[in-house]
Amino acid sequence: MESKNIKKRVLSGMRPTGKLHLGNYVGALANWVKLQETHDCYFFVADWHALTTDYANTADVHQNSVDVVVDWLAAGLDPAKCVMFVQSHIAQHAELHLLFSMITPLGWLERVPTYKDQKEQLKEKDLNTYGFLGYPVLQAADILIYKADFVPVGEDQVAHVELTREIARRFNQFYPKRAGGGLLPEPQPLLTPTPKLRGTDGRKMSKSYDNTILLSDPETVVRQKLKTSVTDPARIRRTDPGDPDKCPIGDLHKIVSSKETLAKVYDGCRTAGIGCIECKGWAADSLVQIMAPMRERRRKYEKQPTLAWEIIEEGDRRARDTAEATMEEIRGATGMSKHFRQE
Ligand code: TRP
Ligand code: SF4
Repeated sequence: MESKNIKKRVLSGMRPTGKLHLGNYVGALANWVKLQETHDCYFFVADWHALTTDYANTADVHQNSVDVVVDWLAAGLDPAKCVMFVQSHIAQHAELHLLFSMITPLGWLERVPTYKDQKEQLKEKDLNTYGFLGYPVLQAADILIYKADFVPVGEDQVAHVELTREIARRFNQFYPKRAGGGLLPEPQPLLTPTPKLRGTDGRKMSKSYDNTILLSDPETVVRQKLKTSVTDPARIRRTDPGDPDKCPIGDLHKIVSSKETLAKVYDGCRTAGIGCIECKGWAADSLVQIMAPMRERRRKYEKQPTLAWEIIEEGDRRARDTAEATMEEIRGATGMSKHFRQE
């Protein structure tokens, strides 16, 4: 039996926010790279979702989408092992989003925690739009159109997957399959365990804080950024002992360094046996080593800029086939088949 048929399906998306950073890698991408080995994986650039907040300026969406895919490829996603595509290239997502918008109660959407939070946080933008409220409805369409079993997401997205399950249940109630059973399976969130990683200023690593280490940063830049990164604030003088558990560099070591190096860091920091400059140098060595194969893979895509786009087009074709097959079932179930039917 072909193993493809028994693999569970995984689907996840990322908004095209520009070049990806280490936080994106540790929090999501590294997990995707592993999942492609064991699951039937679909990964996409959620460019329509980017428009829910950035509708007023779409100039960068296209380039950002390609940049994201190049980062995926550099990180090790392999077009022979997973399907990579761009959301807006698969019009079927929009069709299903529209159908879901018919059956989704407003109250469900107003209750989603990210709705209020984001509106609060992005005060400078007018988010009193239909599309912004409907963000999780579009996400439900993204997920259910591929009948995904698992959706790897961070903590903040679990509520969206939960809503997706509710929409699937409601859809199945309204439009049962003739043979019984639900047409749309309920997906499970796959919570990505995220080790703590902070930005160079000690806050959460985020593009909007300008404190990131990019996956595409050259070695010299990585080293420079770490050199100027904040450390345990209690360690003021070289002779003050520090605590790696209260230091962003300590956090980084836990993710990228060997057990031996980590032991040296804990011991040296707590006894003031090492200085922060030395410690940062070790962190940089470990990190640079992890990033080396990424740099190597990236070279190929930089040399041939059309290559990533060709991979997207191939991914689009495969995604579209799957999405269209589900839509055919859904059009049938909702009484909107494109085929003439005599009963
Ligand atoms: N909302 C997700 C985020 O901001 C991106 C996303 C869109 C997504 N559609 C999805 C994630 C479907 C998983 C499944 O990170
Ligand atoms: Fe942080 Fe290392 Fe300095 Fe300790 S020695 S405070 S872990 S940088």
